[in-house]
Amino acid sequence: MTREYVKPRIIQQREGMMNKFGAVTSRFVDNIEGVKIAKLTEEFGSPLFVLSEKTIRQQYRNAVREFSLQYPRVQFAWSYKTNYLDAVCAIYHQEGSWAEVVSEFEYEKAIKLGVPGEKIIFNGPYKPHDALKNAAKRKSKIHIDHLEEVISLEKISRELKQPIDVAIRINMDTGIYPMWSRFGFNLENQEAYTAVAKIHSTGILLLKGLHCHIGTFILEPNAYKVAVQKLINFAKKIHDDFSIKIEYLDLGGGFPSTNTLHGQYLPGSQVNPPLGKYAEAICGELIKFGSLFEKPPQLFLETGRGLIDEAGYLLTTIVARKRLNDGTAALILDAGINNLVTAAWYKHEFIPAQAYSEILENTVLYGPLCMNIDVMRPLLSLPAMSAGERIIIHPVGAYNMTQWTQFIRLRPAIVLIDTKGNTHVVRKAETLAYLTQLENIPAHIKEKKFRGRVV
Ligand SMILES: Cc1ncc(COP(=O)(O)O)c(C=O)c1O
Repeated sequence: MTREYVKPRIIQQREGMMNKFGAVTSRFVDNIEGVKIAKLTEEFGSPLFVLSEKTIRQQYRNAVREFSLQYPRVQFAWSYKTNYLDAVCAIYHQEGSWAEVVSEFEYEKAIKLGVPGEKIIFNGPYKPHDALKNAAKRKSKIHIDHLEEVISLEKISRELKQPIDVAIRINMDTGIYPMWSRFGFNLENQEAYTAVAKIHSTGILLLKGLHCHIGTFILEPNAYKVAVQKLINFAKKIHDDFSIKIEYLDLGGGFPSTNTLHGQYLPGSQVNPPLGKYAEAICGELIKFGSLFEKPPQLFLETGRGLIDEAGYLLTTIVARKRLNDGTAALILDAGINNLVTAAWYKHEFIPAQAYSEILENTVLYGPLCMNIDVMRPLLSLPAMSAGERIIIHPVGAYNMTQWTQFIRLRPAIVLIDTKGNTHVVRKAETLAYLTQLENIPAHIKEKKFRGRVV
């Protein structure tokens, strides 16, 4: 086979774009809130997750302000699955947040952290009978996902000889596709109405709230406006038909962080709508319809990523620099998709933690796993960096510290920088003893000695 001659090319290397104020200078960040990256990794190891207490508190206070300025009866409930580190949950609870949980262990965590049962919202498609009973006894806000739960709760109510307040999760068409119709009851096909009729017929399950979570990283605030309109109309209908008075609406989570989705062209920090736009969409509509109720319904929000993502950083060290056979530059990092599951959704920022040369080159970023899928970023324009140099990955506070895996490498430590700039380990790096503590070798296998031999 003859190969076609391709003329060699000289590509001008330039850093950033020129503008009338001069060239953009190299951007590197060698600290987080004054704490040096080198010091953090030397003291606590690499890779390392770092959380900023200041940012967690600021983001929360800002969110409460945005909503409560427009609607007085608003309450946030921290979405545990987004980041259920005790220290993180405790900060939110100190700030006044309730808990939103979707499993028994999350529920127990909230109780252990001192959250009163009645300030826990219990969501999710799988709530075993005992978990439902415990939540009912503690008067938590139970959000029914399917009819099996109606049957369970009716039984529990009779066992406890007390009525149980409940809410239902509703899914609906808000213009966001694909529609999340697997959770809760559908509004448009009357499934939600039938569920209400069934709940009402028990006489002992009392419907108090309507819940929805229309999706995640929703870039269209108007979708929430549609959701509120539909929920209010539904509340009116079931009031007319069953005399049910809805006391609260829970709009779930779904607001974006400043991350950039793989499909987005411009940086999320510049184009994602700010929280205020969602507050306007939701509260503007609630206020209009508020007169349907004796008092305005309480608004609950279960915001996860929109609150915590910016507070999280992942520090990683370059293990090696390589060139692929097609000439592409590649870096191997000590953090991979085992630590950063959100690499599959986002183009995180990768910020060099030390000064670098001005020559940029498209580089592929690999993690440390011996697996071809371990790609942190398929192509990123980066300066030439060497083994031992560090990179800050941001924002990574949401879902990574709960969905991370122990595959091939143990999970790293998590450090919190407090509001005075002190560091605290809030989760130690895992050890082999931690990994194997639940394992057991049956006696008949233990007896046998290692028989491998070199022939
Ligand atoms: C019921 C419910 N509430 C809240 C959240 C938090 O969502 P987000 O992190 O997008 O704000 C989720 C996430 O999937 C959820 O399923």
